[in-house]
Amino acid sequence: MSKLILAVESSCDETACAVSRDGREILADVVYSQAEMHALYGGVVPEIASRKHIEKVSLVAEQACRQAGIVPAQLDAVAATCAPGLIGALLVGANFAKGAALALDVPFVPVHHIRGHVAANYVAFPELKPPMTALVASGGHTVILDISDYTEMEVLATTRDDAAGEAFDKIARMLGLPYPGGASLDRLSKTGDPKRYPLPHAGIHDSLDFSFSGLKTAAVNLIHNAQQKGAEISREDLAAAVSVTVAETVVPRVIRAAKERGRRRVCAAGGVAANSTLRGMLERECEKAGLELYLPPLSLCGDNGSMIACQAYFELMAGHTAGADQNCFATMPASQHVSQFDYAL
Ligand code: KG4
Ligand code: ZN
Repeated sequence: MSKLILAVESSCDETACAVSRDGREILADVVYSQAEMHALYGGVVPEIASRKHIEKVSLVAEQACRQAGIVPAQLDAVAATCAPGLIGALLVGANFAKGAALALDVPFVPVHHIRGHVAANYVAFPELKPPMTALVASGGHTVILDISDYTEMEVLATTRDDAAGEAFDKIARMLGLPYPGGASLDRLSKTGDPKRYPLPHAGIHDSLDFSFSGLKTAAVNLIHNAQQKGAEISREDLAAAVSVTVAETVVPRVIRAAKERGRRRVCAAGGVAANSTLRGMLERECEKAGLELYLPPLSLCGDNGSMIACQAYFELMAGHTAGADQNCFATMPASQHVSQFDYAL
C-alpha cells in the first residue's frame, strides 16, 4: 500500500514542508527561508527563528498539500525533525506535526535531522540502498556514518569542536562576505591559489574525528595580521586555501572509514557537500579507491523538507512512530532512534 507522508523541517532558519510517496518520490517541496532576516545579525537568532516558524508553518504545510494535489485526509503519517537543532525552532515544527497527526488520526514520525540529510541521496538516486558510508557536513555537523540499513547506523567520526560549515561561515564573515558565507567563499575560491596561504590540517591521534577550530583561528589570524600591517590579503587565495584544507581533512577520513568497514558505496550530504572543491576531491579519491560515489544536487544538500519526508518513510516502515509526548532534543547522535531516545542517557 502506497504511503503518503507530510514532513516538517524547522530545525534552523528554514520552514520547510514536503510530501513524499513511498519514500523515494517527492510530490511537493515548499520552503519559507528566513535567511535574509538572520543575515542582518550575521547569524541565526534562535528566538526570531522560532517565532517565524510559528507564523509560517501551517501556511507552508497547506501549500505543500496543495502542490502535491492531495487533501490532508489522504495522508498516512505526519513527520517532523525532532533532533538535533535549535530547540525552540524544533518544538514549533514538531508540535504542529503532532497536532496534525492527532487530528488526522495517523501516526506521528519523529525524524533525526542528520538521517534526513543522508536520505537526500535516496531522493536523488532512487536505486541507492544501504549499506554505505555517509559524510554529513553542514553548519552544525560534520560526521561520518556507517549506514548498515535505512534506520541503522553508527557514528564513526564527529567534530571535536566546530563544524566545517561553521569554519566556512566565520572565515567568510571575516572576509566581508554576507551570512551564510560558505557558498560565496566557494565561488571566490575558484580563481584563487590554494598554496599561497598554508593552513593547518588538524587531526586527532588514532581517531577519524575532526577539528576545525584551529583552521578557523589560523585564517582569522592571517586576516587580522594583514589588517594590522595595512597589507592586502587576497580573498580568492585564502578562500581557495580554506576550501582545499577542509577537503584534504575530510576526504581521506571518509575513504578510510569506507575501507575499514568494507563498504563499496559512499554518499555525501549537508550544506557543505555543495562545496565544489570537496566534491571534486571526493570524486577523484573515490574513483582511485574503487568506491561508488553519490553526490546529491546542490538543491538537496542544504536543509530541505524532501529529505525529512523521505527518511520519515523508512522510520515509519521500521515502526519508529511516537505519541503526543514526543520531545525534541538540541543534540543527539544519529545512531539513536529519536522515538526511543532516553533523555536521561
Ligand atoms: O545543511 P545546511 O543547510 O544547514 C545545517 O544543517 O547546518 O548547511 C548550511 C551550511 C552553512 O554553513 C553554509 O555556509 C554551508 O552549509 N555551505 C557551504 C556551501 N554551501 C553552503 N559551504 C561551503 N561551500 C559551499 N558551496
Ligand atoms: Zn542540516
